[in-house]
Amino acid sequence: MWPYPKVLAHRGGGTLAPENTLAGFRTGLQFGYRAAEFDVMLTRDEMPILMHDPQRGRTLPGVGQIAETDWAQLCELDAGAWHGPSFVGERICTLEQGLDFCIGNGIWMNVEIKPGASAQAVRTGELTALAVGRRFTAALEALRDDPASPQAAVLPVLSSFSFDALMAAKEAAPDLPRGFLVDMIPDDWQARLQQLQAVALHTSHKNLTPQLARQVKDAGYALFCYTVNDAARAVEIMGWGVDAFCTDRIDLIRADAY
Ligand code: G3P
Ligand code: MG
Repeated sequence: MWPYPKVLAHRGGGTLAPENTLAGFRTGLQFGYRAAEFDVMLTRDEMPILMHDPQRGRTLPGVGQIAETDWAQLCELDAGAWHGPSFVGERICTLEQGLDFCIGNGIWMNVEIKPGASAQAVRTGELTALAVGRRFTAALEALRDDPASPQAAVLPVLSSFSFDALMAAKEAAPDLPRGFLVDMIPDDWQARLQQLQAVALHTSHKNLTPQLARQVKDAGYALFCYTVNDAARAVEIMGWGVDAFCTDRIDLIRADAY
């Protein structure tokens, strides 16, 4: 049984706001979303930030690799102008800011660890897990001291396409649930999940079949799909036993549809 929300806003607020920003989370809230997926990457000086692309050019102006640029330089950049005039001035969201916002607003999180390069996988997994673990320890303490606190107490799931990053996360914060992300479900998926002591398999809905969904469910794992932007397709895969999915179209798919 999946104890978490079933529909998540992809990259914070889907495509209705600049991805992986506080503006995205706010937009998700406006559409009734209380669950979000976002991507975490390290800068050169190892600041965990919310970022999808390993290089500037699409959501950030200029050129250069995120992993080769310090936070002091990246924090000056506009992370919203690419999306449209109403988001000019939006800055890159740090992991700390994202965690604070989501916890404070009761947004459940799927934290995708995105190592810019494979050499960074272990460090990105480790630092992301440590930061999430620390923040949730504080949130749980706040909740214990004040049961009426609006802090979200539900642990996020850490996900990654990088097996090494997730293994590092497991070492750093073993109590945080893990989901292994794959584009296509590999033959050795079950061995991988066992090694990771993962709770879920996360896969593209495009490569899923009812038979594969059944195998994953029968093995006792949760099944998460990305990125479902069509309401009819969502109904179809949920009928196969999929537990949850993320969407870019928070305007088309209701957060409480399932
Ligand atoms: O976490 C699921 C999904 O976000 C994976 O793809 O490239 O959008 O991060 P991507
Ligand atoms: Mg992602």
